Amino acid sequence: MKATLLKHVFHRTERHGTSAWQQKVTVDTQNPKKFADIHCHCLFGLDDGPATLAGSVALCSMLAKDGVEVVVATPHQMGRYGLRNEPEIIRRAVFDLNKELQRQDIRLEVLPGGDVHVDERLCELLSEDKILTVADKGKYLLVELPFEVFIDIEPMLRRFSGMGVNVIISHPERYVFSAISEEVLDRWSNYSVGFQLTAGSFRGDFGKKAQDLAWDYLHTSVPCCLATDSHDTRSRKPRMRQAYEMIAAKEGQQAATVVCVENPQRIIRSESMLSHRNFDKAGFGNAKV
Ligand SMILES: [Fe+2]
Repeated sequence: MKATLLKHVFHRTERHGTSAWQQKVTVDTQNPKKFADIHCHCLFGLDDGPATLAGSVALCSMLAKDGVEVVVATPHQMGRYGLRNEPEIIRRAVFDLNKELQRQDIRLEVLPGGDVHVDERLCELLSEDKILTVADKGKYLLVELPFEVFIDIEPMLRRFSGMGVNVIISHPERYVFSAISEEVLDRWSNYSVGFQLTAGSFRGDFGKKAQDLAWDYLHTSVPCCLATDSHDTRSRKPRMRQAYEMIAAKEGQQAATVVCVENPQRIIRSESMLSHRNFDKAGFGNAKV
């Protein structure tokens, strides 16, 4: 994706986003290591995350050492997992894991959530408590698109906006189809949509194309947050601290703090995300829909 196109989208949306950009916010860059991770497969036995409790604890321990203080456990829902990982199963598994982490004195809080594959039934499934929002708060839904083929989710964004639910698109930089076009981003920006970029993408864990796109998406008007999408302690490790340092070096500490610390925490608290390009102003979440 060309930076010039992305800049155009940014300026255009900034022009249109009147009521969404009013709240004055101070970003605390003094304590940048208290990360929140809104996308992580740390529950065992539910998906392609750890197979055992010991594996879950090891991953949580690694997250805590990386500076994460709160993590949203997001087992896959829908797609190839169908309705298998029901919210009650995830809530119970989160309760049990928190108990074990406390017993082992690992300082990490785990909250329930889901990594929800896009499906035309998502609005109904959310109303029926069949899929989980981030931190189970009902405000943000983490949605994964198909990797191979682009689909336009504008109708779904419109419906969720009407329900007061904000959609966060998981790892847009990793999809095999080419970058989401200027025209599409422009239309999607009329609704409450954010990007979750994966920490490892910034250092090239998913290839050069995903690496370039991760940096490019940071320059759009779409509010971004980073998450680890970690699955284990070997091939899909948490990389939050390293990503924070890379973004701070290239884009500045305030932008890094917004995407790695402030926005993930705001999502968990059901507050509006900030634009990392306008860190002193509130972004989507306050937007009228
Ligand atoms: Fe995931």
